[in-house]
Amino acid sequence: MTELKYKRIVFLTGAGISAESGVATFRDANGLWENHRVEDVASPLGFKRNPQLVWQFYSMRRMQAQQAKPNTAHSALANAIHELESQGARVLLITQNVDTLHERAFGALPHKNFIDIHGTLSRSKCVKCSKVYSDRWCYSNKDGAIAHDHADSLWSNPSLPNLLSAPQRDTRGLPLSPCCSDLLRPDIVWFGERPYGIEAAIDQLTSCEIFVSVGTSGNVYPAAGFAAVARKAGAQTACLNLEQPENHTAFHEQIQGPATETLPAYLHKTFQLKQKS
Ligand code: OAD
Repeated sequence: MTELKYKRIVFLTGAGISAESGVATFRDANGLWENHRVEDVASPLGFKRNPQLVWQFYSMRRMQAQQAKPNTAHSALANAIHELESQGARVLLITQNVDTLHERAFGALPHKNFIDIHGTLSRSKCVKCSKVYSDRWCYSNKDGAIAHDHADSLWSNPSLPNLLSAPQRDTRGLPLSPCCSDLLRPDIVWFGERPYGIEAAIDQLTSCEIFVSVGTSGNVYPAAGFAAVARKAGAQTACLNLEQPENHTAFHEQIQGPATETLPAYLHKTFQLKQKS
C-alpha cells in the first residue's frame, strides 16, 4: 500500500457544488437572497412573525432539492472520501448546504465524519423541545394545505423518528410536532443561531494537513473563517470556486471553474487516488 500524502483532511462545501445540479445558490444573480429578504425567511424572528411564509419558502426548497440529483462533483467527493478513509485517512466533510445531495451521493458508501453545519431540508424540529424529526413534507401556499409528499427522493435519516404520516396542523395549516403539539420548524440554522458541530469542526481544522473549500463565496462566518483557522494551524489550503471568494487571502492555492470539472481532477491529482472519479 502506498503511503498517503495527506492523512488528516477537511473539505468544506457551499452552494456552488450543487449549482450544476440545478439548486439555486444564495449570492449569484437570481440567487435566493436576491429574491428573498434573509430576515423574513431565515431568522427566528421571521418565523415568529410569519411562519406560513417561512414554511412556503422551505417547502419550495424541499421540492427543488427532491428534484435535483447529485452531480459528478458530489460523487467524485464521496468516492474520494471513501477511498481515503479505506486507506486510513481521517477525513471530515463539512457542508453549508441543506440540499441532501452529499448524503445521496454517498448512498451506501460508509462515511464517518459529516457535519451539516447549517442543518438540512430533510429534518424538522419542535420549536418547544427541539426534538428533531426526519421530515420531507411540503406545504403549498394555499391556506398552508399539505400539497406533496416526495418521500421517495429526499434523503431520510434512519436514526431519527420519521414523520411518515402527515403531521397534525393548527388552524392556520401549520404543522405541529407529535411530541409537544407545538409548531414544527425546518431544522435549518438561521441567522443569529449557532451552527451545528462547531467544536468538532474546529478540532479537526486545527489538526488537519489539508483544507479544501469548494463552491462557497466565503461570506458567512464561522465557515468563511475555517480556511484561516486551518492555515494558521499549518495546513495547506485550497479553494475551488467559479470566482475569487471573499476570503481568498486564506488560500495557498486557488482553482477557478465549475466544480464538476475542477473537483474530480483536483482530487485525483492531489490525493493520488486509484480510481478516476
Ligand atoms: P453563495 O451563494 O454565497 O456562494 C456560492 C459560490 O459558488 C459563489 O462564489 C459562486 O461563484 C460559486 N459557484 C457558483 N456556481 C459554481 C460552480 N458550478 N462550481 C463552483 N463554484 C460555483 O453560497 P454559500 O457560500 O454556500 O446560509 O453561502 C453560505 C451560506 O450563506 C449558506 O449556507 C446560507 C447563506 O446565507 C444559511 O442559510 C444559514
